[in-house]
Amino acid sequence: MANIVLGVGGGIAAYKACFLLRLLTESGHDVTVVPTESALRFVGAPTWEALSGRPVRTDVWTDVPQVPHVRLGKAADLVVVAPATADLLAKAAHGLAGDLLTNVLLTARCPVVMAPAMHTEMWEHPATQANVSTLTERGVHIIPPASGRLTGADTGAGRLPEPEELFGVCTRILQHRAAKHGGLAHSASRPERDGAAVPARGALRGRSVLVTAGGTREPLDPVRFLGNRSSGKQGYALATVAAERGAQVTLVAANPALPAPEGVTVVAVQTAVELEQAVEVAAKDADVVVMAAAVADFRPARYADSKIKKTHDPDAPDAAPTLELVRNPDILAGLVERRGEATSPVIVGFAAETGDAVGTVLEHGRAKLARKGCDLLVVNEVGVDKTFGLDDNTVHILRRGSGHVVDAGPASKHAIASAVWDAVQEIL
Ligand code: CTP
Repeated sequence: MANIVLGVGGGIAAYKACFLLRLLTESGHDVTVVPTESALRFVGAPTWEALSGRPVRTDVWTDVPQVPHVRLGKAADLVVVAPATADLLAKAAHGLAGDLLTNVLLTARCPVVMAPAMHTEMWEHPATQANVSTLTERGVHIIPPASGRLTGADTGAGRLPEPEELFGVCTRILQHRAAKHGGLAHSASRPERDGAAVPARGALRGRSVLVTAGGTREPLDPVRFLGNRSSGKQGYALATVAAERGAQVTLVAANPALPAPEGVTVVAVQTAVELEQAVEVAAKDADVVVMAAAVADFRPARYADSKIKKTHDPDAPDAAPTLELVRNPDILAGLVERRGEATSPVIVGFAAETGDAVGTVLEHGRAKLARKGCDLLVVNEVGVDKTFGLDDNTVHILRRGSGHVVDAGPASKHAIASAVWDAVQEIL
């Protein structure tokens, strides 16, 4: 069983951390709760002590001979911070160490999970987003906040996800770590942490690959966006398999609620334009680019700085607004167009097809391969109950020129990812 530090920030959602603590201890884990001073204004130390069965402190001046500010972090198999306030994210991003929790974050060499929770405005503020990007790039697993009712009557992005969801992420990370290390020996002497490169081993050793994943979101106003059903699972599986085969992997991830795969550098983005910029930078050194992200083809022509009210036109109180959309860049087409300028990566596209009166899924796939000009096209059938968010997938992998088709699945997205990399390796 694992040695876990549960950090708690000073937000109203601290009460949900009590349930997370319960789920962790009932699964047999040893949990030390490290709240901030302000967290104790929401839930008192006796509650944490009773639920964890361990003493609780917030500063580095208690039990000094035990050196708790170093020992706790070094001995942990997992540090999970829920809720992570804007203040705590900022302190963690900048390496401040004013209390016990921030010291633990600096000394931990195990996976670190942070679940931000705050008001929408604070979450969307560029300062918070920059801190989240910094932490993500360093390998911290950020569990994005859920949308819904906030502290007051208002709603929006910023809610702490439910304790069961946080528990699920922690469990998966611990299982992954146990599989990798053959157990959960408390990791004082283990130098690596998630997000660092894995040793180059396997068929993609020495290769640099870029994978995109998730679904872009195009904001309409501070609380609404146009999005799609992509969960990012297939892209994450592709990044995971590439890392397992020894590649250096950059994953440009659009809004997924998934932990960073081991040994993969994750760049978090929101919109198609942000995704394009991140791809442009990362594609420069890539031997392979896999565009698994579901990119929005259109975005709202204008962004409203404040929430669009139901009665937005006083002269027509019952009227609904008309949305004007503009085209987003076709990132895959851009990559194909620039191919050969400096480097010549193998380019893999994905096709989300439903099939219709004009053609079958495969027919649409072949036409798209011809149109897009990429080296491989992974065609999958999508729909409300198919592919999106599920763990299994069925695909046809089409190769440019020869038109060669490999059918893969129904199988786990990890197995599909292996089939895609097999096809890429043939071209390499
Ligand atoms: N893609 C992209 N930029 C876009 C839209 C899609 O780079 N603006 C990429 C996707 O990542 C995917 C491939 O193009 O690898 C095909 O995406 P899909 O949505 O199936 O194709 P579209 O070109 O948008 O065609 P349509 O929606 O008309 O089927």
